[in-house]
Amino acid sequence: GITRHYKFDIVLQNVTRLCHRKSIVTVNGQFPGPRIVAREGDRLLIKVVNHVHNNISIHWHGIRQLQTGWADGPAYVTQCPIQTGHSYVYNFTIVGQRGTLFWHAHISWLRSTVYGPLIILPKRGVPYPFSKPYKEVPIIFGEWWNVDTEAVISQALQTGGGPNVSDAYTINGLPGPLYNCSAKDTFKLKVKPGKTYLLRLINAALNDELFFSIANHSLTVVEVDAVYVKPFETNTLVIAPGQTTNVLLNTKAKFPNAAFFMAARPYVTGLGTFDNSTVAGILEYDDFPHKTISIRKLPLFKPLLPPLNDTSSATNFTSKLRSLASAQFPANVPQKVDKRFFFTVGLGTIPCQHNRTCQGPNGTMFSASVNNISFVLPSTALLQAHFSGQSNGVYSPDFPINPIFPFNYTGTPPNNTMVSNGTKLVVLPFNTSVELVMQDTSILGAESHPLHLHGFNFFVVGQGFGNFDPNNDPAKFNLVDPVERNTVGIPSGGWVAMRFLADNPGVWFMHCHLEVHTSWGLRMAWVVLDGKLPNQKLLPPPADLPKC
Ligand code: C2O
Repeated sequence: GITRHYKFDIVLQNVTRLCHRKSIVTVNGQFPGPRIVAREGDRLLIKVVNHVHNNISIHWHGIRQLQTGWADGPAYVTQCPIQTGHSYVYNFTIVGQRGTLFWHAHISWLRSTVYGPLIILPKRGVPYPFSKPYKEVPIIFGEWWNVDTEAVISQALQTGGGPNVSDAYTINGLPGPLYNCSAKDTFKLKVKPGKTYLLRLINAALNDELFFSIANHSLTVVEVDAVYVKPFETNTLVIAPGQTTNVLLNTKAKFPNAAFFMAARPYVTGLGTFDNSTVAGILEYDDFPHKTISIRKLPLFKPLLPPLNDTSSATNFTSKLRSLASAQFPANVPQKVDKRFFFTVGLGTIPCQHNRTCQGPNGTMFSASVNNISFVLPSTALLQAHFSGQSNGVYSPDFPINPIFPFNYTGTPPNNTMVSNGTKLVVLPFNTSVELVMQDTSILGAESHPLHLHGFNFFVVGQGFGNFDPNNDPAKFNLVDPVERNTVGIPSGGWVAMRFLADNPGVWFMHCHLEVHTSWGLRMAWVVLDGKLPNQKLLPPPADLPKC
């Protein structure tokens, strides 16, 4: 591989959408941010220089960061944030991965404007396991708020209520023609007839899983989270925040005298308010003979998207995902398990903090937790505390392995919805083979949670609705070709079982990729200890690692 250099200047930029102009934090003034393109095996050196008043840190979502946890990016987990006027070089090598990922700010809610595609091509001369596409197109979903990011954050955190709902979803930063004052901000994909396009779909939205479809065209899914899957055809797909999906789009052989919407809108199961609007882009055939005819005069086909709460459509899609599991791309599913964990995830409440107007139930604040611990970030970085052997006062290694109040997780909610705050981690010896069952609870309404693990991919060996049954469900696990990914939706009122090998030393964050739930505490971290061999140890921190 080669070394590729990028420079990310964090600067403010005025951006107008839906006729609202506001100043947002960006990388190099771009919204969405610049595209990073590299090949498997390359080293990336990305210098991030902070010119704004906010602290910043950037996460390379889905990159394994073998031995280079210092470059992972979540603020107060692997690094202190980069302060105003300071810089930090993220230095890592892409090992054994190729496909679509993305990068985003990993502090507070800054990822609402600071995000962009991270595309890893196969090593030179190595083909895709599908026929070579004519063109490749990144399609990154986001959300737009007319108000300032700060106002959105304080709505979600200071009042302990639900966040301000976004005003639009976006495709490559553009809300599209179904919103007021937005027709000119429409993503258009110009295509030629009879060709194959690789669409690299990325869900960088903050708080919504999305259904996506293109009118009158089917899509062939070939990869998720930068891992190839057995190809299958679908009309609609679902993509959670933190997930990426590569699909092949075959254009029609002849130019059809029509324009086609590609559209996305949310899949929502939980409580609260949400934006049920639709973002649309336009698929436009390029050799359209009468270029002067406005696209508005053509029949415009809209795709059929499932209803907002259509869990069976969502499940039907995700249950089709299988690892390619070929000789060249094997599925290395851990067959034996060293440690089993059962964690509950869900919403709860904490007492209202003083000086705040709390909008949670019964005057409390909303909170979210894993095993009833709502995770509190420290004021220094967990990884530094671990590396220097000074974890005292920063975190404790006593994450509760058994849920505090065992009950029927999907039955009647208990009277007591209170959870407790803590900075508790799970410590794993190097190379522990982990099986983790995550159970969604209905303490305050069942909700699908896209769970993201840093530092690893995991295999989704099983999932189901209702309460996980440890006596019968494991017999049905798929240990042959389960999908391998870095973010999985824990089904609403259900569970998901995953396996991974803890072969990457460091401190690894795991959290719901719905920003509102992350900030309410649905997050935790794992410490993976060093192994004995030199290539099994966390490397020392770089000299420019930011200080708190
Ligand atoms: Cu994309 Cu910790 O997140």
